Amino acid sequence: MKIRMILFLLVIVCLLGGCAAPAAVPPDETYEKLIVVGFSQVGAESDWRNANTRSMQQALSAENGFRLIIDDAQQKKERQITAIRNFIHQGVDYIVLAPTTEDGWDTVLAEAKAAGIPVIIIDRMIDSSLATGDTGDQHFTSWIGSDFQRQGDAAVQWLEKQFGEQPLRIIHLQGNYGSSAQVGRTTSLEKGLDRNPHWTLVARDSGDFTQAKGQELVEAYLASGLDFNVIFAENDNMAYGAIDALKNAGITPGEDVIIVSFDANRRALEMVMNGEINFDVECNPLHGPRVQAVIEQLERGETPPRFTFVDETSFDADSLTQQIIDSRGY
Ligand code: AHR
Repeated sequence: MKIRMILFLLVIVCLLGGCAAPAAVPPDETYEKLIVVGFSQVGAESDWRNANTRSMQQALSAENGFRLIIDDAQQKKERQITAIRNFIHQGVDYIVLAPTTEDGWDTVLAEAKAAGIPVIIIDRMIDSSLATGDTGDQHFTSWIGSDFQRQGDAAVQWLEKQFGEQPLRIIHLQGNYGSSAQVGRTTSLEKGLDRNPHWTLVARDSGDFTQAKGQELVEAYLASGLDFNVIFAENDNMAYGAIDALKNAGITPGEDVIIVSFDANRRALEMVMNGEINFDVECNPLHGPRVQAVIEQLERGETPPRFTFVDETSFDADSLTQQIIDSRGY
């Protein structure tokens, strides 16, 4: 009798809706409409790079209609090639590539093209025959980045103007070999060395754009008793490392040794203001909104510019103001 009563009550509850099949979860339409972007990023080697990643995350957000998949290649081209193949396999709508070096992209970009996925390149350039489309076969849709040789020229011209005929003994800290940032800035210094016979290159090595390697290299030069009065660091993080090494050795950066650097991150600008860095050339990492604009143009069926060079400037203690530093977001 008791069991019958329980069954009876269960039937009543079910009839009132308690046992109804759960309502189907409506498809998440917002999610489905998002534009999927695979971003192969160089790594996290510098403050510049981290600012660049943040800029991409902020612009290509779900609120703005995107789903961004980031792959950190840890400065290894092979990892970038694998990441791009994975993006193709996943069927993303767009691929954004920040290439670690200029060479070696022909095959994988041809694969992206065959899959019908537009590729946008940011920051550095890829091999120039592809870049200019000499073959008539354009492997990417749009490129956004810096003119690295122009940056290098600005640094070299500042040294020439500042020091005239004075002899300079230069340590050159390079970025990762084969990257446009290294190639462009190094080419400028090479030309400066040719033009100025009173300049001597006393040491040169790659610090891979990292602070730790910049410091290691300068510590080793100091330990070997090298005589120098200029450090030409191809980015701010290597300059920070070099400055730490000098200070630890009781040498005053900016006075005993002239420091020239690239990026002009906020911290570096503060060091220009306090005299530890003498000259810093801007390299703008805020490509997120620029990529967003290119994708939105493509979505509307428009043709974005094939090349966009970012406006950049440079700073020394005379041109820098506290207002510029305060407005620096990275
Ligand atoms: O390609 C841009 C360069 O790469 C920046 O100067 C450097 O800081 C970064 O790692």
